[in-house]
Amino acid sequence: MSKGFPENFLWGGAIAANQAEGAWNVDGKGPSVADIAMYRPHLNVEDYEAHQTVTTEMIERAMQDSDVKKYPKRRGIDFYHRYKEDLALFAEMGFKALRVSIAWSRIFPTGEENEPNESGLKFYDGLFKEMKRLGIEPIVTLSHYEMPLALSVKYNGWAERKVIDDFVKFSNVCFSRYKDLVKYWLTFNEIDSIIRHPFTTAGIVPDRCPEGKVEETIYQALHHQFVASALVTADCHRIIPGSQVGCMLTMLTTYPNTCHPKDVEITLMRNLHTYFYADVQVFGEYPPLIETMLEQKNIHLQMEPGDREILRKHTVDFVSFSYYMSLTESAKEGLERASGNTITGVKNPYLPSTEWGWQIDPVGLKISLIELYDRYRKPLLIVENGMGAVDQVESDGSIHDDYRINYFREHFKQMKEAVEAGVDLFGYTSWAPIDIISAGTSQMSKRYGFIYVDQDDEGNGTLQRSRKDSFYWYKKVIETNGENL
Ligand code: BG6
Repeated sequence: MSKGFPENFLWGGAIAANQAEGAWNVDGKGPSVADIAMYRPHLNVEDYEAHQTVTTEMIERAMQDSDVKKYPKRRGIDFYHRYKEDLALFAEMGFKALRVSIAWSRIFPTGEENEPNESGLKFYDGLFKEMKRLGIEPIVTLSHYEMPLALSVKYNGWAERKVIDDFVKFSNVCFSRYKDLVKYWLTFNEIDSIIRHPFTTAGIVPDRCPEGKVEETIYQALHHQFVASALVTADCHRIIPGSQVGCMLTMLTTYPNTCHPKDVEITLMRNLHTYFYADVQVFGEYPPLIETMLEQKNIHLQMEPGDREILRKHTVDFVSFSYYMSLTESAKEGLERASGNTITGVKNPYLPSTEWGWQIDPVGLKISLIELYDRYRKPLLIVENGMGAVDQVESDGSIHDDYRINYFREHFKQMKEAVEAGVDLFGYTSWAPIDIISAGTSQMSKRYGFIYVDQDDEGNGTLQRSRKDSFYWYKKVIETNGENL
C-alpha cells in the first residue's frame, strides 16, 4: 500500500497581485513596474533579452499612456473587486491554501513614504480574513515582479542599496499588520529571474547602469535582495512567532543532450547556477564556485562588513519553487532550441510541448523534488506549476480542458512518487487556479485556470467566472488527498 500525500497537505493555487488584481491606480496605489509591461503576444523567447530590455524613454512614454489595452496588467481580472467571488470558487474546490502577493505600491505608493497607505492595507485585511473564514491558508509573497515604479526611476531599482531599507520597512508593516492571519511568507518570487529580466524583477534599466557594467549591476542588485531577504526573514520570525519563511526558485532542471562529457559539464554548470540562488538563502553563504565565477567575469560586489553575517544567520525555513518544464543543454552550437519560462534550451525529442512551446516533463518534477530535497534537507513547497493553453468555450458554456487535466495528473503522479521516496513536500499550489494575465506576454488567452474568466486579450468581456472540466477534477483530487488521480 502506498502512503501517498501527507495528511494536511496544502493543496491550492497561486496568483500574483500584478497579474490578477487590476485596479492599478485605485485607493492610492502607486504605479509598479508591472503597470508598464506591454502586451506582447509575439514574444519570441529566443530574443528574450532584447524584448526584456526596458529603456528610460519607454518608461516615460508608458507613464503618459493611459491606454490600458497596451498594458493589460493594469486591469488584471479585477480580483481587487471580485476576490470574494473567486475565493468562494477556490473554497468550492476545497483549497487548503492560496498563494497571493502583496502589491508593494498599494502599501507604499512610491516605496518611500513614512506612513503606509491605509486603504491598501485594508484590502489585504479583507482578503486574508476571508481566506481564513473559508479555511484557506494564505501563503504570501512579498515581492512578485511589482516593485514601486518610482524606486526604479529614482534609484535604478535594487541597484541602489537604500532599497533594502524600503523593502524592510514595507515587509515589517505587512508582518505587524497580518501577524494573526498569515503564517507562511515568501520573500522574492523567482529571485534568480533577475538575471533574465532585471527590470521586471528588480527595476533595473540598463541605460542607467554605468557603462559596461550592466551585468555587475544586476549581481549587485541580487546581493541587495539576498541581504533584504535575510533581514526580513529575521524580522518575520521576531514579529510572528511560529511563522515560516521560504525562498522561491525557478526550478530549471537541465539534462545533458548526450552523454558526451562536454554536454554533461555544461549541464552541470547550468544546474549549479540554478541552485546558487537557493544555496545562498538556505546555506547562508555564496557557493565558492560562484564567487570564483564572478571574479572571472570581473564582477566585484560591494558588500558591507556585516552582510555575510546577516546571510549566515538568517536562513529560510523551507524551499519553495516553480516548475513548468525541464531544459536540455549541449556544448554543441546550432541545435534546434525550444522555448521555456523566459529561457530556452536544446529541444528534447522525448517531450511534447504546450502551444507556447514549453516542453512538458512530469518526470522532471520528480527529479527536481529529489534533487532539491537531497541538497537542502528542508521541507519543500511547490508554489507554481501548470500549463498555459487556449481554451475553447462550447455553446453551452462548458470548457473541456482534458489537456490541462492530463498535465496535472501526470505531474501529481510524479509528485506522489517523490513523496513516497521520502521527499518532505508539504504543499502544492498550481499556477494559476483562475485565468489571469500572463507574466511574460501579458496575454489573457494564455490560460492556466481551473476557472475561466470571460475576458480577451484586448480586455473585452464580462469578466464572468465559470468552471472548466479541470475544476471538478481538481476538486476530487483535493477531496481524496491525491489518491484519486
Ligand atoms: C512564473 C512567474 O515564472 O511563470 C509567474 O512567477 C508567471 O508570475 C508564470 O505567470 C507563468 O508565466 P507566463 O508568462 O506564462 O504567465
